[in-house]
Amino acid sequence: MAGRLVKAGLVIRFHAVTLFPEMFAAVTASGISGRALEAGLWSLGLWNPRDFTSDNYRTVDDRPYGGGPGMVMLAEPLDKALDAARQAGGGKVIYLSPQGRKLDHAMVMELAGTTAMTFLCGRYEGVDERLIGRRVDEELSIGDYVLSGGELAAMAVIDAVVRQIPGALGGEQSALEESFVDGLLDCPQYTRPEVWPQDGAGGKVPAQVPSTLLSGHHENIRRWRLQQALGRTWLRRPDLLAARKLNDDERKLLEDFQRQRGESGK
Ligand SMILES: C[S@@+](CC[C@H](N)C(=O)[O-])C[C@H]1O[C@@H](n2cnc3c(N)ncnc32)[C@H](O)[C@@H]1O
Repeated sequence: MAGRLVKAGLVIRFHAVTLFPEMFAAVTASGISGRALEAGLWSLGLWNPRDFTSDNYRTVDDRPYGGGPGMVMLAEPLDKALDAARQAGGGKVIYLSPQGRKLDHAMVMELAGTTAMTFLCGRYEGVDERLIGRRVDEELSIGDYVLSGGELAAMAVIDAVVRQIPGALGGEQSALEESFVDGLLDCPQYTRPEVWPQDGAGGKVPAQVPSTLLSGHHENIRRWRLQQALGRTWLRRPDLLAARKLNDDERKLLEDFQRQRGESGK
């Protein structure tokens, strides 16, 4: 089930085969993932293919057979680096690639239910196909665009998966109340002050916080949030709504939202 939190006490061991291990400070040193690492909820093994070369130049790439621009990552150092990660309990090997299956919430939850995985981070024009064919269990893309390397993609996966480990977020509810968990986008959020900007000028959104959120009436707030989530998903991601069954109450809330939009001419 997509929205379920993974087992309490689970620790996930990530590994990354990368030419730029220092980049991973972005997830190890700050924010929620940094705190979760300190709390021992996950670990990260970094394996640099340069450390697994046998020539004086520590060569990790070469020109592509058949010609053309750029360089291709050599199979041998990657193979050895993957061996080292496997010996350290590396789990399945995931090659970050624009040609892979596109990452979504269901896949994040799938990964969050496992205990170990190794990310293969490509650079240059990519990795020798024979290495991919022999060592990679799964190819994963973070979107239809091309990055310069797999590191940012691997970190996006690590960050999204770590959020699902019980104890990684302040309150366990937080992970359950986000976009995609229930097949919907999240509702809009507001914080102090009640009116901003003071003169109420400009913007497509009223300056006053919606009165229901100030009412203290929990059931009305829950229903307002659900209605906003349904309405937003209808407006911005009709594909998600088409894939989700609505119960009678949700259908009615959405119809009210659509009617209000129609009346206000928006
Ligand atoms: C410049 S890209 C190579 C792109 C490759 N020549 C292609 O067109 O499919 C270098 C590396 O960045 C990573 N990468 C680039 N875009 C990505 C994406 N959308 N998702 C995941 N990894 C990506 C991959 O590891 C890839 O090997």
